[in-house]
Amino acid sequence: MIADEYVEIFDTTLRDGEQTPGVSLTPLEKLEIARQLDRLGVDAIEAGFPVASQGELEAVKLIVREGLNSEVYGLARVNKNDIDAVISSGASNIHLFIATSDIHLKYKLKLSREQVLEKAVGGVEYAKAHGLKVEFSAEDATRSDIEYLKKVYKSVVDAGADRINVPDTVGVMTPAKISQIINEVKSVVNVPISVHCHNDFGLAVANSLAAVEAGARRVHVTVNGLGERAGNAALEEVVMALHSLYGRKTKINTRLIYETSKLVSQSTGVIIQPNKAIVGENAFAHESGIHTHGVLSMPLTYEPIEPEIVGRKRLIQAGKHAGTHGIMAKLQDMGFHPTEEQLKEITAKVKELGDKGKTVTDTDLAAIARSIIRRGGEEKVIELVDLAVMTGFKVVPTASVKLLLEGKEYVAAETGVGPVDAAVKAIQKVTDSLANIRLKEYRLEAITGGSDALAEVIVKVEDRSGNVMSARSAGEDIVIASVEAMINGINEILRKRKDARSQLNQNV
Ligand code: KIV
Ligand code: ZN
Repeated sequence: MIADEYVEIFDTTLRDGEQTPGVSLTPLEKLEIARQLDRLGVDAIEAGFPVASQGELEAVKLIVREGLNSEVYGLARVNKNDIDAVISSGASNIHLFIATSDIHLKYKLKLSREQVLEKAVGGVEYAKAHGLKVEFSAEDATRSDIEYLKKVYKSVVDAGADRINVPDTVGVMTPAKISQIINEVKSVVNVPISVHCHNDFGLAVANSLAAVEAGARRVHVTVNGLGERAGNAALEEVVMALHSLYGRKTKINTRLIYETSKLVSQSTGVIIQPNKAIVGENAFAHESGIHTHGVLSMPLTYEPIEPEIVGRKRLIQAGKHAGTHGIMAKLQDMGFHPTEEQLKEITAKVKELGDKGKTVTDTDLAAIARSIIRRGGEEKVIELVDLAVMTGFKVVPTASVKLLLEGKEYVAAETGVGPVDAAVKAIQKVTDSLANIRLKEYRLEAITGGSDALAEVIVKVEDRSGNVMSARSAGEDIVIASVEAMINGINEILRKRKDARSQLNQNV
Protein backbone atom coordinates (compact mmCIF):
# COMPACT_ATOMS: atom_id res chain seq x y z
CA MET A 1 0.00 0.00 0.00
CA ILE A 2 1.27 3.45 -0.89
CA ALA A 3 0.07 5.63 1.97
CA ASP A 4 -0.31 8.83 -0.04
CA GLU A 5 -2.25 7.18 -2.87
CA TYR A 6 -5.82 8.50 -3.20
CA VAL A 7 -8.49 6.13 -2.01
CA GLU A 8 -11.17 6.05 -4.70
CA ILE A 9 -14.80 6.60 -3.81
CA PHE A 10 -17.33 4.57 -5.76
CA ASP A 11 -20.76 5.94 -4.88
CA THR A 12 -23.68 3.55 -5.21
CA THR A 13 -26.38 5.78 -3.68
CA LEU A 14 -28.28 5.68 -6.96
CA ARG A 15 -28.15 1.87 -7.19
CA ASP A 16 -27.64 0.05 -3.86
CA GLY A 17 -28.86 3.17 -2.00
CA GLU A 18 -32.03 3.18 -4.05
CA GLN A 19 -32.57 -0.43 -3.01
CA THR A 20 -33.41 0.91 0.47
CA PRO A 21 -36.92 -0.40 1.17
CA GLY A 22 -39.47 2.26 0.24
CA VAL A 23 -37.08 4.38 -1.82
CA SER A 24 -37.66 5.05 -5.50
CA LEU A 25 -36.15 7.91 -7.46
CA THR A 26 -37.27 9.35 -10.77
CA PRO A 27 -34.67 9.75 -13.53
CA LEU A 28 -34.61 13.51 -12.91
CA GLU A 29 -34.09 13.07 -9.17
CA LYS A 30 -31.24 10.70 -9.93
CA LEU A 31 -29.74 13.22 -12.30
CA GLU A 32 -29.84 15.94 -9.65
CA ILE A 33 -28.11 13.67 -7.13
CA ALA A 34 -25.53 12.57 -9.74
CA ARG A 35 -24.65 16.21 -10.43
CA GLN A 36 -24.18 16.79 -6.71
CA LEU A 37 -22.05 13.64 -6.33
CA ASP A 38 -19.90 14.88 -9.20
CA ARG A 39 -19.47 18.26 -7.49
CA LEU A 40 -18.67 16.40 -4.29
CA GLY A 41 -15.82 14.71 -6.14
CA VAL A 42 -16.63 10.99 -6.14
CA ASP A 43 -14.51 8.99 -8.56
CA ALA A 44 -17.35 6.79 -9.75
CA ILE A 45 -21.14 6.89 -9.71
CA GLU A 46 -23.16 3.70 -10.02
CA ALA A 47 -26.16 5.29 -11.70
CA GLY A 48 -28.53 2.32 -11.77
CA PHE A 49 -29.39 -1.14 -13.04
CA PRO A 50 -30.46 -0.43 -16.65
CA VAL A 51 -32.12 -3.79 -17.29
CA ALA A 52 -34.42 -3.39 -14.27
CA SER A 53 -36.85 -0.88 -15.80
CA GLN A 54 -37.32 1.73 -18.49
CA GLY A 55 -36.89 4.45 -15.84
CA GLU A 56 -33.58 2.96 -14.70
CA LEU A 57 -32.29 2.85 -18.26
CA GLU A 58 -33.49 6.43 -18.80
CA ALA A 59 -31.76 7.60 -15.60
CA VAL A 60 -28.42 6.04 -16.54
CA LYS A 61 -28.69 7.54 -20.04
CA LEU A 62 -29.41 11.00 -18.62
CA ILE A 63 -26.48 10.81 -16.24
CA VAL A 64 -24.10 9.53 -18.92
CA ARG A 65 -25.14 12.41 -21.20
CA GLU A 66 -24.22 14.95 -18.50
CA GLY A 67 -20.54 14.37 -19.25
CA LEU A 68 -19.60 14.39 -15.56
CA ASN A 69 -16.05 14.14 -14.28
CA SER A 70 -16.99 11.05 -12.27
CA GLU A 71 -17.01 7.72 -14.13
CA VAL A 72 -20.57 6.47 -14.61
CA TYR A 73 -21.32 2.78 -14.08
CA GLY A 74 -24.34 0.66 -14.90
CA LEU A 75 -24.96 -2.57 -12.98
CA ALA A 76 -25.47 -5.89 -14.79
CA ARG A 77 -25.57 -9.59 -14.09
CA VAL A 78 -23.21 -11.62 -16.25
CA ASN A 79 -25.76 -12.25 -19.00
CA LYS A 80 -26.06 -10.75 -22.47
CA ASN A 81 -29.41 -9.08 -21.83
CA ASP A 82 -28.20 -7.16 -18.76
CA ILE A 83 -24.93 -6.19 -20.43
CA ASP A 84 -26.76 -5.02 -23.57
CA ALA A 85 -28.93 -2.78 -21.39
CA VAL A 86 -25.80 -1.11 -19.99
CA ILE A 87 -24.39 -0.76 -23.50
CA SER A 88 -27.62 0.89 -24.67
CA SER A 89 -27.44 3.38 -21.77
CA GLY A 90 -24.24 4.74 -23.28
CA ALA A 91 -22.22 4.07 -20.11
CA SER A 92 -18.64 3.11 -20.72
CA ASN A 93 -18.25 1.39 -17.34
CA ILE A 94 -20.02 -1.71 -16.17
CA HIS A 95 -20.33 -3.26 -12.72
CA LEU A 96 -20.77 -6.98 -13.47
CA PHE A 97 -21.74 -9.44 -10.78
CA ILE A 98 -22.59 -13.05 -10.06
CA ALA A 99 -22.78 -14.78 -6.69
CA THR A 100 -20.00 -17.18 -5.68
CA SER A 101 -21.08 -18.49 -2.26
CA ASP A 102 -22.43 -22.04 -2.06
CA ILE A 103 -25.59 -20.72 -0.38
CA HIS A 104 -26.36 -18.53 -3.39
CA LEU A 105 -25.32 -21.20 -5.89
CA LYS A 106 -27.53 -23.83 -4.31
CA TYR A 107 -30.65 -21.87 -3.37
CA LYS A 108 -30.70 -18.92 -5.75
CA LEU A 109 -28.75 -19.63 -8.94
CA LYS A 110 -29.08 -23.44 -8.89
CA LEU A 111 -25.74 -23.66 -10.67
CA SER A 112 -22.52 -25.51 -9.98
CA ARG A 113 -19.27 -23.71 -9.17
CA GLU A 114 -17.98 -24.55 -12.65
CA GLN A 115 -21.08 -23.10 -14.31
CA VAL A 116 -20.77 -19.86 -12.31
CA LEU A 117 -17.11 -19.55 -13.22
CA GLU A 118 -17.93 -20.04 -16.89
CA LYS A 119 -20.71 -17.44 -16.80
CA ALA A 120 -18.51 -14.93 -14.99
CA VAL A 121 -15.73 -15.26 -17.54
CA GLY A 122 -18.24 -15.18 -20.44
CA GLY A 123 -19.84 -12.01 -19.11
CA VAL A 124 -16.52 -10.23 -18.70
CA GLU A 125 -15.41 -11.25 -22.20
CA TYR A 126 -18.68 -10.03 -23.71
CA ALA A 127 -18.49 -6.67 -21.91
CA LYS A 128 -14.85 -6.20 -22.83
CA ALA A 129 -15.60 -7.10 -26.46
CA HIS A 130 -18.05 -4.16 -26.42
CA GLY A 131 -15.41 -1.77 -25.16
CA LEU A 132 -16.62 -1.47 -21.57
CA LYS A 133 -14.42 -0.98 -18.54
CA VAL A 134 -15.34 -3.79 -16.16
CA GLU A 135 -15.48 -3.90 -12.38
CA PHE A 136 -16.36 -7.48 -11.45
CA SER A 137 -18.09 -8.40 -8.18
CA ALA A 138 -18.33 -11.88 -6.71
CA GLU A 139 -21.60 -11.42 -4.86
CA ASP A 140 -21.50 -12.80 -1.30
CA ALA A 141 -17.72 -13.04 -1.66
CA THR A 142 -17.20 -13.04 2.09
CA ARG A 143 -19.23 -16.24 2.54
CA SER A 144 -17.63 -17.94 -0.46
CA ASP A 145 -15.04 -20.69 -0.29
CA ILE A 146 -11.79 -18.70 -0.38
CA GLU A 147 -9.97 -20.96 -2.87
CA TYR A 148 -12.94 -20.92 -5.24
CA LEU A 149 -13.29 -17.15 -4.81
CA LYS A 150 -9.64 -16.61 -5.72
CA LYS A 151 -10.08 -18.85 -8.76
CA VAL A 152 -13.06 -16.78 -9.95
CA TYR A 153 -11.25 -13.46 -9.45
CA LYS A 154 -8.11 -14.71 -11.20
CA SER A 155 -10.17 -16.05 -14.13
CA VAL A 156 -12.15 -12.82 -14.65
CA VAL A 157 -8.98 -10.76 -14.51
CA ASP A 158 -7.43 -13.08 -17.10
CA ALA A 159 -10.58 -12.50 -19.17
CA GLY A 160 -9.98 -8.74 -19.06
CA ALA A 161 -11.73 -7.38 -15.91
CA ASP A 162 -10.17 -4.02 -15.06
CA ARG A 163 -11.01 -4.14 -11.38
CA ILE A 164 -12.46 -6.60 -8.95
CA ASN A 165 -14.78 -5.89 -6.05
CA VAL A 166 -15.16 -7.84 -2.79
CA PRO A 167 -18.76 -7.48 -1.58
CA ASP A 168 -19.66 -8.31 2.00
CA THR A 169 -23.20 -8.77 0.77
CA VAL A 170 -24.84 -9.62 4.09
CA GLY A 171 -22.47 -7.62 6.30
CA VAL A 172 -20.93 -10.55 8.17
CA MET A 173 -17.32 -9.44 8.16
CA THR A 174 -15.21 -8.17 10.99
CA PRO A 175 -12.26 -5.86 10.29
CA ALA A 176 -9.78 -8.71 10.86
CA LYS A 177 -11.63 -11.11 8.57
CA ILE A 178 -12.05 -8.67 5.68
CA SER A 179 -8.33 -7.78 5.88
CA GLN A 180 -7.52 -11.45 5.56
CA ILE A 181 -9.76 -11.86 2.49
CA ILE A 182 -8.30 -8.76 0.82
CA ASN A 183 -4.80 -10.12 1.42
CA GLU A 184 -5.75 -13.49 -0.05
CA VAL A 185 -7.34 -11.90 -3.13
CA LYS A 186 -4.39 -9.53 -3.57
CA SER A 187 -2.11 -12.52 -3.87
CA VAL A 188 -3.84 -13.70 -7.07
CA VAL A 189 -4.84 -10.54 -8.95
CA ASN A 190 -2.88 -7.58 -10.21
CA VAL A 191 -5.80 -5.18 -10.77
CA PRO A 192 -7.16 -2.63 -8.27
CA ILE A 193 -9.40 -4.11 -5.60
CA SER A 194 -12.64 -2.51 -4.38
CA VAL A 195 -14.62 -3.32 -1.27
CA HIS A 196 -18.39 -3.16 -0.82
CA CYS A 197 -19.59 -3.55 2.76
CA HIS A 198 -23.12 -3.85 4.10
CA ASN A 199 -24.02 -2.74 7.58
CA ASP A 200 -26.01 -5.62 9.06
CA PHE A 201 -23.90 -5.61 12.23
CA GLY A 202 -23.04 -1.91 12.13
CA LEU A 203 -19.53 -2.72 10.90
CA ALA A 204 -19.70 -1.55 7.27
CA VAL A 205 -17.50 1.49 7.80
CA ALA A 206 -14.99 -0.30 10.05
CA ASN A 207 -14.75 -3.18 7.58
CA SER A 208 -14.30 -0.82 4.62
CA LEU A 209 -11.49 0.98 6.44
CA ALA A 210 -9.82 -2.29 7.37
CA ALA A 211 -10.02 -3.36 3.73
CA VAL A 212 -8.35 -0.11 2.67
CA GLU A 213 -5.59 -0.72 5.22
CA ALA A 214 -5.15 -4.19 3.76
CA GLY A 215 -4.78 -2.77 0.25
CA ALA A 216 -8.24 -2.10 -1.24
CA ARG A 217 -7.97 0.96 -3.47
CA ARG A 218 -11.63 1.74 -3.94
CA VAL A 219 -14.53 1.82 -1.47
CA HIS A 220 -18.17 1.39 -2.41
CA VAL A 221 -20.30 3.75 -0.32
CA THR A 222 -23.68 5.44 -0.21
CA VAL A 223 -24.63 8.87 1.07
CA ASN A 224 -26.17 8.62 4.56
CA GLY A 225 -25.42 4.89 4.52
CA LEU A 226 -28.54 4.08 2.49
CA GLY A 227 -28.86 0.62 1.02
CA GLU A 228 -30.41 -2.82 1.28
CA ARG A 229 -31.54 -3.73 4.84
CA ALA A 230 -29.23 -1.92 7.28
CA GLY A 231 -27.55 -0.14 4.39
CA ASN A 232 -24.05 0.25 2.99
CA ALA A 233 -20.94 1.92 4.33
CA ALA A 234 -21.73 5.64 4.64
CA LEU A 235 -19.75 7.90 2.32
CA GLU A 236 -19.43 10.69 4.89
CA GLU A 237 -18.12 8.37 7.60
CA VAL A 238 -15.67 6.49 5.39
CA VAL A 239 -14.30 9.69 3.86
CA MET A 240 -13.94 11.60 7.11
CA ALA A 241 -12.36 8.62 8.89
CA LEU A 242 -9.91 8.18 6.00
CA HIS A 243 -8.95 11.86 6.11
CA SER A 244 -8.94 12.41 9.86
CA LEU A 245 -8.01 9.07 11.39
CA TYR A 246 -6.08 7.19 8.72
CA GLY A 247 -4.18 10.06 7.12
CA ARG A 248 -5.43 8.98 3.67
CA LYS A 249 -6.66 11.23 0.89
CA THR A 250 -9.72 11.10 -1.32
CA LYS A 251 -10.84 13.56 -3.98
CA ILE A 252 -13.93 14.47 -1.99
CA ASN A 253 -14.62 18.13 -1.30
CA THR A 254 -15.67 17.50 2.28
CA ARG A 255 -17.30 20.94 2.62
CA LEU A 256 -20.08 19.68 0.36
CA ILE A 257 -20.80 16.60 2.46
CA TYR A 258 -23.63 18.07 4.50
CA GLU A 259 -25.53 19.61 1.59
CA THR A 260 -25.19 16.32 -0.31
CA SER A 261 -26.55 14.42 2.65
CA LYS A 262 -29.51 16.82 2.89
CA LEU A 263 -30.27 16.52 -0.81
CA VAL A 264 -30.25 12.71 -0.64
CA SER A 265 -32.41 12.71 2.47
CA GLN A 266 -34.94 15.05 0.86
CA SER A 267 -35.07 13.17 -2.44
CA THR A 268 -35.33 9.71 -0.89
CA GLY A 269 -37.52 10.68 2.07
CA VAL A 270 -35.18 8.80 4.40
CA ILE A 271 -34.70 10.90 7.51
CA ILE A 272 -31.23 10.97 9.03
CA GLN A 273 -31.11 9.83 12.64
CA PRO A 274 -30.10 12.78 14.86
CA ASN A 275 -27.08 11.00 16.32
CA LYS A 276 -25.75 9.85 12.93
CA ALA A 277 -22.02 10.54 12.65
CA ILE A 278 -20.98 13.58 10.57
CA VAL A 279 -24.40 14.44 9.11
CA GLY A 280 -26.85 13.83 11.99
CA GLU A 281 -28.47 16.90 13.55
CA ASN A 282 -26.58 16.34 16.80
CA ALA A 283 -23.18 15.52 15.31
CA PHE A 284 -21.89 19.00 16.19
CA ALA A 285 -24.40 19.97 18.89
CA HIS A 286 -23.47 20.50 22.52
CA GLU A 287 -25.84 20.83 25.42
CA SER A 288 -24.17 19.94 28.69
CA GLY A 289 -22.62 22.83 30.57
CA ILE A 290 -19.25 21.07 30.82
CA HIS A 291 -19.10 20.39 27.08
CA THR A 292 -20.31 23.80 25.91
CA HIS A 293 -17.87 25.52 28.26
CA GLY A 294 -15.05 23.37 26.88
CA VAL A 295 -16.00 23.81 23.23
CA LEU A 296 -16.43 27.56 23.59
CA SER A 297 -12.95 27.90 25.10
CA MET A 298 -11.34 25.45 22.67
CA PRO A 299 -13.41 23.51 20.12
CA LEU A 300 -10.94 20.60 20.12
CA THR A 301 -11.98 19.71 23.67
CA TYR A 302 -15.17 18.06 22.48
CA GLU A 303 -15.03 18.19 18.67
CA PRO A 304 -12.80 15.77 16.78
CA ILE A 305 -13.18 17.80 13.58
CA GLU A 306 -14.29 21.34 12.83
CA PRO A 307 -17.95 21.32 11.73
CA GLU A 308 -17.10 23.68 8.83
CA ILE A 309 -14.92 20.98 7.26
CA VAL A 310 -18.07 19.05 6.39
CA GLY A 311 -20.14 22.16 5.66
CA ARG A 312 -21.75 22.43 9.06
CA LYS A 313 -21.96 24.78 12.02
CA ARG A 314 -21.58 24.12 15.71
CA LEU A 315 -24.87 24.08 17.57
CA ILE A 316 -25.14 25.02 21.22
CA GLN A 317 -28.37 23.57 22.51
CA ALA A 318 -30.31 25.03 25.42
CA GLY A 319 -31.60 22.33 27.75
CA LYS A 320 -31.52 21.01 31.28
CA HIS A 321 -27.82 20.10 31.05
CA ALA A 322 -26.89 23.55 29.81
CA GLY A 323 -24.63 25.89 31.71
CA THR A 324 -24.47 29.67 31.74
CA HIS A 325 -21.51 29.75 29.30
CA GLY A 326 -23.42 27.92 26.61
CA ILE A 327 -26.64 29.84 27.14
CA MET A 328 -24.73 33.13 27.11
CA ALA A 329 -22.98 32.25 23.84
CA LYS A 330 -26.30 31.32 22.30
CA LEU A 331 -28.03 34.45 23.56
CA GLN A 332 -25.26 36.69 22.28
CA ASP A 333 -25.55 34.97 18.91
CA MET A 334 -29.23 35.85 18.94
CA GLY A 335 -28.51 39.47 19.82
CA PHE A 336 -29.34 39.37 23.55
CA HIS A 337 -26.95 40.77 26.13
CA PRO A 338 -28.28 39.76 29.55
CA THR A 339 -26.73 40.82 32.84
CA GLU A 340 -25.27 38.10 35.04
CA GLU A 341 -28.46 38.02 37.13
CA GLN A 342 -30.67 37.80 34.06
CA LEU A 343 -28.48 35.07 32.62
CA LYS A 344 -28.88 33.05 35.82
CA GLU A 345 -32.62 33.50 35.66
CA ILE A 346 -32.77 32.51 31.97
CA THR A 347 -30.61 29.44 32.62
CA ALA A 348 -32.80 28.43 35.55
CA LYS A 349 -35.91 28.72 33.38
CA VAL A 350 -34.31 26.62 30.62
CA LYS A 351 -33.37 23.92 33.12
CA GLU A 352 -36.87 23.98 34.61
CA LEU A 353 -38.34 23.34 31.15
CA GLY A 354 -35.75 20.63 30.47
CA ASP A 355 -36.63 18.88 33.72
CA LYS A 356 -40.20 18.76 32.50
CA GLY A 357 -38.99 16.86 29.44
CA LYS A 358 -39.27 19.78 27.04
CA THR A 359 -36.86 20.53 24.25
CA VAL A 360 -35.92 24.19 24.42
CA THR A 361 -35.80 25.52 20.88
CA ASP A 362 -34.16 28.77 19.83
CA THR A 363 -37.60 30.39 19.68
CA ASP A 364 -38.31 29.27 23.24
CA LEU A 365 -35.00 30.63 24.43
CA ALA A 366 -35.60 33.95 22.72
CA ALA A 367 -39.03 34.25 24.34
CA ILE A 368 -37.64 33.45 27.77
CA ALA A 369 -34.78 35.91 27.28
CA ARG A 370 -37.07 38.67 26.04
CA SER A 371 -39.39 38.36 28.99
CA ILE A 372 -36.58 38.30 31.56
CA ILE A 373 -34.38 40.96 29.98
CA ARG A 374 -37.25 43.38 29.47
CA ARG A 375 -38.33 43.39 33.09
CA GLY A 376 -35.08 42.46 34.78
CA GLY A 377 -32.50 44.81 36.21
CA GLU A 378 -35.04 47.57 36.43
CA GLU A 379 -36.88 48.72 39.46
CA LYS A 380 -40.24 47.01 39.92
CA VAL A 381 -42.73 49.66 40.96
CA ILE A 382 -45.50 47.12 41.24
CA GLU A 383 -45.03 43.45 42.16
CA LEU A 384 -47.24 40.40 42.10
CA VAL A 385 -47.48 38.90 45.57
CA ASP A 386 -50.13 36.28 45.00
CA LEU A 387 -52.54 35.00 42.41
CA ALA A 388 -55.37 32.51 42.73
CA VAL A 389 -57.75 31.44 39.97
CA MET A 390 -60.76 29.22 40.02
CA THR A 391 -62.38 27.85 36.91
CA GLY A 392 -64.42 24.82 35.85
CA PHE A 393 -67.22 23.52 33.69
CA LYS A 394 -70.04 25.10 35.71
CA VAL A 395 -67.97 27.59 37.67
CA VAL A 396 -67.69 31.27 36.75
CA PRO A 397 -63.96 31.88 36.22
CA THR A 398 -62.74 33.98 39.11
CA ALA A 399 -59.33 35.38 39.96
CA SER A 400 -57.95 37.20 42.95
CA VAL A 401 -54.63 39.02 42.96
CA LYS A 402 -52.48 40.55 45.64
CA LEU A 403 -50.17 43.31 44.42
CA LEU A 404 -47.48 45.30 46.18
CA LEU A 405 -47.32 48.97 45.25
CA GLU A 406 -45.05 51.40 47.04
CA GLY A 407 -44.81 49.12 50.08
CA LYS A 408 -48.55 48.63 50.38
CA GLU A 409 -50.51 45.48 49.52
CA TYR A 410 -53.66 45.69 47.43
CA VAL A 411 -56.08 42.83 46.88
CA ALA A 412 -58.76 42.56 44.22
CA ALA A 413 -60.98 39.81 42.81
CA GLU A 414 -62.83 39.66 39.51
CA THR A 415 -64.74 37.27 37.31
CA GLY A 416 -64.26 36.90 33.56
CA VAL A 417 -64.98 34.77 30.50
CA GLY A 418 -61.97 32.66 31.38
CA PRO A 419 -59.22 32.58 33.99
CA VAL A 420 -56.94 34.91 31.98
CA ASP A 421 -59.70 37.45 31.53
CA ALA A 422 -60.56 37.26 35.24
CA ALA A 423 -56.92 37.66 36.31
CA VAL A 424 -56.28 40.60 33.96
CA LYS A 425 -59.47 42.31 35.16
CA ALA A 426 -58.47 41.80 38.79
CA ILE A 427 -55.12 43.49 38.15
CA GLN A 428 -56.82 46.30 36.29
CA LYS A 429 -59.18 46.81 39.19
CA VAL A 430 -56.22 47.59 41.43
CA THR A 431 -54.14 49.53 38.95
CA ASP A 432 -56.98 51.45 37.31
CA SER A 433 -57.84 53.25 40.51
CA LEU A 434 -54.23 53.68 41.62
CA ALA A 435 -52.45 54.38 38.39
CA ASN A 436 -55.12 54.62 35.70
CA ILE A 437 -53.60 51.92 33.56
CA ARG A 438 -55.62 49.62 31.29
CA LEU A 439 -54.92 46.73 29.01
CA LYS A 440 -55.09 47.89 25.39
CA GLU A 441 -53.99 44.78 23.47
CA TYR A 442 -53.37 41.15 24.36
CA ARG A 443 -51.72 38.48 22.22
CA LEU A 444 -50.94 34.88 23.11
CA GLU A 445 -48.54 32.71 21.14
CA ALA A 446 -47.85 29.04 21.78
CA ILE A 447 -44.20 28.42 21.06
CA THR A 448 -43.53 24.79 21.79
CA GLY A 449 -46.00 22.02 21.00
CA GLY A 450 -48.04 19.92 23.44
CA SER A 451 -50.49 20.75 26.20
CA ASP A 452 -47.57 21.99 28.35
CA ALA A 453 -46.39 24.27 25.54
CA LEU A 454 -44.35 27.32 26.38
CA ALA A 455 -46.54 30.32 25.70
CA GLU A 456 -45.52 33.88 25.09
CA VAL A 457 -47.90 36.66 26.04
CA ILE A 458 -47.45 40.09 24.50
CA VAL A 459 -49.52 42.99 25.88
CA LYS A 460 -49.91 46.67 25.24
CA VAL A 461 -50.97 48.81 28.19
CA GLU A 462 -52.06 52.44 28.18
CA ASP A 463 -52.48 55.12 30.81
CA ARG A 464 -54.91 58.06 30.75
CA SER A 465 -52.31 60.37 29.22
CA GLY A 466 -52.07 58.06 26.22
CA ASN A 467 -48.67 56.54 27.10
CA VAL A 468 -48.60 53.09 25.54
CA MET A 469 -46.03 50.47 26.49
CA SER A 470 -45.72 46.90 25.30
CA ALA A 471 -44.45 44.09 27.46
CA ARG A 472 -44.21 40.35 27.33
CA SER A 473 -43.72 37.25 29.39
CA ALA A 474 -43.27 33.57 28.66
CA GLY A 475 -44.18 30.47 30.62
CA GLU A 476 -46.08 27.22 30.46
CA ASP A 477 -48.96 28.54 32.54
CA ILE A 478 -50.94 30.93 30.36
CA VAL A 479 -52.61 32.66 33.31
CA ILE A 480 -49.33 33.34 35.10
CA ALA A 481 -47.60 34.42 31.87
CA SER A 482 -50.50 36.80 31.15
CA VAL A 483 -50.43 38.30 34.61
CA GLU A 484 -46.65 38.71 34.47
CA ALA A 485 -46.85 40.37 31.05
CA MET A 486 -49.52 42.74 32.31
CA ILE A 487 -47.48 43.63 35.39
CA ASN A 488 -44.35 44.11 33.27
CA GLY A 489 -46.33 46.55 31.12
CA ILE A 490 -47.66 48.46 34.12
CA ASN A 491 -44.13 48.71 35.50
CA GLU A 492 -42.90 50.07 32.20
CA ILE A 493 -45.51 52.86 32.31
CA LEU A 494 -44.90 53.66 35.96
CA ARG A 495 -41.14 53.82 35.37
CA LYS A 496 -41.70 56.09 32.39
CA ARG A 497 -43.85 58.40 34.50
CA LYS A 498 -41.28 58.40 37.29
CA ASP A 499 -38.49 59.24 34.82
CA ALA A 500 -40.57 62.10 33.42
CA ARG A 501 -41.19 63.45 36.94
CA SER A 502 -37.53 63.38 37.92
CA GLN A 503 -36.66 65.01 34.60
CA LEU A 504 -39.12 67.77 35.44
CA ASN A 505 -37.68 68.24 38.94
CA GLN A 506 -34.16 68.49 37.52
CA ASN A 507 -35.28 71.15 35.07
CA VAL A 508 -37.00 73.26 37.71
O1 KIV B 1 -24.10 -6.29 -1.93
C1 KIV B 1 -23.82 -6.81 -3.02
O2 KIV B 1 -23.32 -7.91 -3.10
C2 KIV B 1 -24.12 -6.03 -4.20
C3 KIV B 1 -23.67 -6.60 -5.51
C4 KIV B 1 -24.52 -6.20 -6.63
C5 KIV B 1 -22.25 -6.25 -5.71
O3 KIV B 1 -24.66 -4.95 -4.12
ZN1 ZN C 1 -24.67 -4.25 -2.06
